[in-house]
Amino acid sequence: MDFERYAAIVRDPAARHERYAEMTSSYFDAFTDLYRELWSDSLNLTWFTGQKSLAEAQKDHERKVGDLLGVTPGMRVLDVGCGIGNPALEISAHTGAHVTGVTISPRQVEVAATKIAEAGAADRVEVVLGDAMELPFPDNSFDAAYAIQAIGHMPDKPRVYREISRVLRDDTVLVCSDGFLRSRTDLVDHGEAMEVLFQTFAVPSVTTIHECQEELRAAGLGMEYLTRYSDHGDMTPNWAIGEQIAAKLMGGDGPSELSFLFGASMDALGKAAESGALELYLWAARKLPGRS
Ligand SMILES: C[S@@+](CC[C@H](N)C(=O)[O-])C[C@H]1O[C@@H](n2cnc3c(N)ncnc32)[C@H](O)[C@@H]1O
Repeated sequence: MDFERYAAIVRDPAARHERYAEMTSSYFDAFTDLYRELWSDSLNLTWFTGQKSLAEAQKDHERKVGDLLGVTPGMRVLDVGCGIGNPALEISAHTGAHVTGVTISPRQVEVAATKIAEAGAADRVEVVLGDAMELPFPDNSFDAAYAIQAIGHMPDKPRVYREISRVLRDDTVLVCSDGFLRSRTDLVDHGEAMEVLFQTFAVPSVTTIHECQEELRAAGLGMEYLTRYSDHGDMTPNWAIGEQIAAKLMGGDGPSELSFLFGASMDALGKAAESGALELYLWAARKLPGRS
């Protein structure tokens, strides 16, 4: 990664929109291996029940996404912003569906190919390079879609919802799990903390859940299920793990720029979530007939 070039994009709110493709692919190309080492192969936050480990809790979250898809074995599912395919492998095994993941990061496609081969899952999971703002698939080609903490990284969310709606068949479901602003005023009240969050995670913008509902409706998708992560379990272990990572990476002697930035992102995430400004939701929306 050309760190100075990348830093110039993330520090500038306009550039985070205009140059999102370079920003996002650079971010995930550079940080995917650190996520694997320090967080997990699933690049997501989850809710925790009982004494479950991060990996066990992520499995619960991903299976819940799989259950909400309403698919049967052999159906075709799209994973929008699929990371290295860990949720796709889990959801395919859980539902029996064929999952196609799309990511904007070439490094993630490479890692996913190895993981899929190691799992012997090439007949049921594939991961391709592509931009969700312009999905590389024909109209009406999927029986369901999901996006786990990915759409937050995309600059034009109405366009992404329209794209997903276009590739879904009528009367099928999009399941999404993501972070949303509690309210627009939080961008003022917690402006500094949110800006640190956006810069360290390469996020162009976030919306409120109400704005999301409007954007979905405009794309021909009607929300029919909506829960907070905290309805399902405890969120605090995420922030505790993040704090440990931040302490490890930001302290000590001369961490590399990448390590420091990764640590800073974990620190910013915990602060934004604990302030209440960032809320995590799991929702499902159905494609209304005749909309694409
Ligand atoms: C936080 S990661 C989550 C990955 C995965 N869903 C998981 O839970 O492991 C966000 C993902 O969104 C992808 N992404 C972000 N913007 C994208 C875009 N415009 N098109 C395709 N993928 C994108 C990233 O490449 C990354 O895989």
